[in-house]
Amino acid sequence: MTTDNATASEKQRANPYIEVDEVLAQIQTSFNTPQLQCETNTGIETIPLADEVSFGSWQPEIPEEYWALEADELERRIRASRERLGDQVVVLGHHYQREDIVQFADTRGDSFALAQYAAERQESPYIVFCGVHFMAEAADILAAPHQQVILPNMEAGCSMADMAAAPDVYSAWRELEDFFGTTEDIIPVTYMNSAASLKAFCGEHGGVVCTSSNATQVLDWAFEQGKRVFFFPDQHLGRNTGHAMDIPLDEMVLWNWRLPAGNLGGLGDDELERSRIILWQGHCSVHQRFSLTQIEQARASFPDVQIVVHPECRYEVVQAADANGSTAFIAKYVAGAAPGSVIGVGTEINLVSRLAKENPDKTVFCLDPVVCPCSTMYRVHPAYLAWVMESLERGEVVNRIEVPAEMKANAKVALERMLALK
Ligand code: 13P
Ligand code: SF4
Repeated sequence: MTTDNATASEKQRANPYIEVDEVLAQIQTSFNTPQLQCETNTGIETIPLADEVSFGSWQPEIPEEYWALEADELERRIRASRERLGDQVVVLGHHYQREDIVQFADTRGDSFALAQYAAERQESPYIVFCGVHFMAEAADILAAPHQQVILPNMEAGCSMADMAAAPDVYSAWRELEDFFGTTEDIIPVTYMNSAASLKAFCGEHGGVVCTSSNATQVLDWAFEQGKRVFFFPDQHLGRNTGHAMDIPLDEMVLWNWRLPAGNLGGLGDDELERSRIILWQGHCSVHQRFSLTQIEQARASFPDVQIVVHPECRYEVVQAADANGSTAFIAKYVAGAAPGSVIGVGTEINLVSRLAKENPDKTVFCLDPVVCPCSTMYRVHPAYLAWVMESLERGEVVNRIEVPAEMKANAKVALERMLALK
C-alpha cells in the first residue's frame, strides 16, 4: 500500500507502473478542458436516477419509488430479486455495461456472443438484455416463442443504428435498382447495430447480418452470392473489413443518405460502376472520436505500447493500430498480453476500465483521454434493472421488446445466415 507520505521510490517499488501512470496523467491533462476529462481506469459510479442530468429524457415512467435509491440499495434489491427469480430469468450483459450491471449478468459478451447465447438458452422464459435496443431485438428474433425479451430502459438505443432509417435504406435500394437496372447482383449486408426492419430487409433480399466479430466471413459469403455489397449502417466497419480483404479504397464508395432521394447518395455514375462495396455514411459517435494523433501520442510516450481498437474506428486509426476486433477480441487481446505490457485501447470506457482492473499486471488505458461512455448503454441504470426484475416477480412484464411476426421471420433468415457461417 502506498500513502501520500510515501517517497517516490517507495511508490515505485509498490507499483512498478507508477511512471507509466504519471505519463498517462500528463497525457490526460494535455488534452482539452479539465472538466471534460474522465479517469480512464475508473468505472462509472452509479448515482440515484433522479440525480442524473438526463433522466428526464430517458424512460421517466419508472415508478417514483426507484428514483432516489442509492447504488448499494439497488444492488441489494437486484441481488435478492435475481435469487428469487432463479432460472426464470437469464440476464445478458454487453461489455459496455457499467460494473453495477455486469455483475448480475449470467454471461457478458460482444453482440455476436450474446445473440448466440440468447438463441441457445431456451429454458428461461424471460431474457433481460442489458445492452441496447437492437441487441434486444436480435435476441427476440432468435428466442423461442415461449420466451420474452426485456430491455431495462426503452430509451437505450444506438446513435449509429438511428443513422439508417428504414425508409432511407429502401429508397436508396430503389435508386440502385434504377441505376443498375437490377439489384440481383447486389447483396445487402446490415451490421448487427441496426433496426430489426433492416435485418428483415436483408433476409428478404438475399442478404445477411454481420457483427464486428464475423464481418470478413460474412463479406466473403456475400461476394460468393453477388458482385456488389450494399453495407449499412457503419461505413468504418465496412471499409476496414473491405480493406482487410484487399478491396481498393476507391472501390468502396460512400452513400450520403442525408441527400434528398434522386441524388444517388452523392455518387457519380463512374463511382457506382466501379464500386464493390457501397457504404452507408453512418458511424458510431463513441468510436469516431479516436484519432491518429492519440495513437501517435501514445507511441511517443510509450515506445512499446500495443494499440488495440474496435473496427468501428476510422480507417486511419485501424491502420495505425496493432490489432482490431470486436469487444470480445479486445478483451482476449488484453488478457493474452504479457505481464508488464502497456496497452492503449480504442473503445468504450466501461470495457477499458474493466480490463484495466482485471489485468493489474498490465497498464491498460483508453486512447481518448476525454472519452465518454456510450451514452445509450449508460441509460441501463441499475434502477431500471431493479424495476424490471421486481416487476417480473409480480408476474408483470415491463419493457418487453417484441418484433412483429412477419418482420421477425425475415430478420431471422438474415441472422441465421450469419450464424450458419461460424
Ligand atoms: P461488439 O459486437 O464488438 O460487441 O460491438 C457492439 C457495439 O455496439 C460496438 O460499438
Ligand atoms: Fe451504438 Fe456506438 Fe454505443 Fe455501440 S458504442 S451501442 S455503436 S453508439
